[in-house]
Amino acid sequence: MDAKEIAGRRAAAEAQPGMLLGLGTGSTVHWTLQALGERAARGERVRGVPTSLDTERKARQLGIEILRLDEVVALDLAIDGADEIDARFRMIKGGGGALLREKVVASLARRVVIVVGANKVVERLGTTFALPIEVVPFALAPVARRLALLGCDPKLRLGKDGLEYRTDNGNAILDCAFAHGIADPERLERDIDAIPGVVESGLFLGLAHARVVGHDDGRCEVVEQA
Ligand code: 5RP
Repeated sequence: MDAKEIAGRRAAAEAQPGMLLGLGTGSTVHWTLQALGERAARGERVRGVPTSLDTERKARQLGIEILRLDEVVALDLAIDGADEIDARFRMIKGGGGALLREKVVASLARRVVIVVGANKVVERLGTTFALPIEVVPFALAPVARRLALLGCDPKLRLGKDGLEYRTDNGNAILDCAFAHGIADPERLERDIDAIPGVVESGLFLGLAHARVVGHDDGRCEVVEQA
């Protein structure tokens, strides 16, 4: 088992029978879905709100029941990955383009558990990963100019086909590299949110309750937010 599988499977154990789940997106949560799917195959009712069309498709194939947000008021537990996570459980997410739905789902969950390989744990956000920002296509040029004034280098994300990437919500993504990382994530989040045309940023602050970190040597650490 590699670090992602160790973390993803361990986090699935947090899901108690009957819980309403938030189902994250990405290659680490892939293993959470597999573990939940194995439980569904043994007859357990497993259900949750997916954070992307990709997760919805995978979950359906695994026998996990799909819920819509108009069918639930709150979720018991959301399990999701991250692109970077720091000691205060602040995160950069959106490498897979699902940041908007991931943030909505996390905001509705009583408990949010983040699954990562050890390489995602950083001292300062933005040092290993560009910050994804979901933007209304109409406003791409002015938003990119305003973002650059915040000290980053915004690059338009392209899809595998070389065309402009589109999220599940029909928006574009600007991947914003900060040469020296992000000194003040809370202030940056406020500044980004104030730009008209920004739909959501990949800064996830104050949302995670626990972090499950897998290591390639087989170890797995579960740390609760202090
Ligand atoms: C998708 C995300 C993912 O959670 C993040 O990119 C981590 O993915 P992976 O587990 O594949 O490294 O934010 O929008």
